[in-house]
Amino acid sequence: RAYDVLVIGSANADLTVRVDRRPGPGETVLGTDLVESAGGKGANQAAAAARLGARTALLAGVGDDAYGELLLDAQRAAGADTAHVRVVRGARTGTAMIVVGPDGDNTIIVSPGANSLLSPDDVAAARPLVAAASVVSLQWEVPAETVRAAAALAAGTGTRVVLNPSPVPPELGRDLLAAADPLVVNEHEARHLSGAPDGDDPAGWARALRDQGARSVVVTLGGAGALALDADAADPVTVPGVPVRPVDTTGAGDAFTGALAARLAAGAPLADAVRFAVRVGAASVTKPGAQPSYPTVDELPPAGEEK
Ligand code: RIB
Ligand code: NA
Repeated sequence: RAYDVLVIGSANADLTVRVDRRPGPGETVLGTDLVESAGGKGANQAAAAARLGARTALLAGVGDDAYGELLLDAQRAAGADTAHVRVVRGARTGTAMIVVGPDGDNTIIVSPGANSLLSPDDVAAARPLVAAASVVSLQWEVPAETVRAAAALAAGTGTRVVLNPSPVPPELGRDLLAAADPLVVNEHEARHLSGAPDGDDPAGWARALRDQGARSVVVTLGGAGALALDADAADPVTVPGVPVRPVDTTGAGDAFTGALAARLAAGAPLADAVRFAVRVGAASVTKPGAQPSYPTVDELPPAGEEK
């Protein structure tokens, strides 16, 4: 296997301002100085996996601008292979406008730029790469047909697919669900995709999503940890959170998913991979930014206490 983890997805420059209070419509508030850093759900997953020691490549598109350089530099610094990041002449690199509140919570608006040009043809051209990877990791910040092409290609070549449908689409469809092993969703995404909008039942959402065709399901629960429902398991495994003081939760889900992909590629069972990924996500929220906050194995906090 040429790569442990091949991430196919987005790369964004994150433009972040912290505020004490979010503005309402028509209102202006002052924030901190602007911070520009490497982000984008695909690039984040790749950086997370690479920093943890997985042989990782990113298939993505950036513009021929300074933000594209920033993203390529960040991938290289994390140890990921950038040979398959296409620099698109005349396109803008994707950008994310991020506002971080006092509790480290964030709101994000993404302008896709070059991400919207990542096409099924790019995926088809990467067939040998997909076939030779242990795990392909996908998110939802590039065109839906590109995600579908990648999932279909991976399924056809026997490569495991980790699918994190974020930002969440109205529906995934059976083919995509059937390729997901696991489907990785947060509570909001799980509630929405499972078609069970009422109540608060992560185990029920996971079961519903597996009944709908996902091979296995992981529901992330923010600071409360995550839940893993493996393909043949009767019941989900609940993994507790790791107590940390959150500074900035931006990209914590991507750190989690990149770590999960890295661990699965190394042959770990799903629940063990989730235990590891929870620690990685927790480490990431203790520092500002997405990629700049991602840990190496040496920097991980101990696991939370299992009940
Ligand atoms: O998931 C966090 C990421 O979402 C940020 O890095 C931003 O670029 C957006 O893609
Ligand atoms: Na962070």
